[in-house]
Amino acid sequence: MSDTSVIYVLNGPNLNLLGVREPEIYGRDTLADIEQRCVTAAGEAQIVFRQTNHEGVLVDWIQEAREKAQALIINPAAYGHTSVALHDALKTLTIPVIELHLSNPAAREAFRHHSYVSSAATGVIAGFGAAGYELAVQAALTKVRERA
Ligand code: DQA
Repeated sequence: MSDTSVIYVLNGPNLNLLGVREPEIYGRDTLADIEQRCVTAAGEAQIVFRQTNHEGVLVDWIQEAREKAQALIINPAAYGHTSVALHDALKTLTIPVIELHLSNPAAREAFRHHSYVSSAATGVIAGFGAAGYELAVQAALTKVRERA
């Protein structure tokens, strides 16, 4: 049976600079490289892969996912540590939500230890670099199949 699932992969501020931004922390893969890894990991499922530097745009895309996606993966970047709006938007979803970070925020500065997204997520993947995106796609597909 073909998989018609749609998985949204949303990326927050400064992730457009992956590859050149602090590569010792975030790695050398660009966001385009990571998108390709997600598409490959998804197989027949469809990946909708986006990045924005704007908090409200992320809220709009999360609301869009309510209608259009079977699972949502989000690297909220710095907004994860600050945004009640993202938390509230994610709480409106009934589909699986995976919070993702390239680095492990819990092992970094204290201001990165709290996430407003974690308490609205099904699960969290952090600290595996770009490979974390592939893990997140696999986790999303597992959750979608469990629910089918
Ligand atoms: C990040 C971790 C955040 O603390 C940081 O603000 C980012 C990237 C990560 O993927 O490791 O911008 O979400």
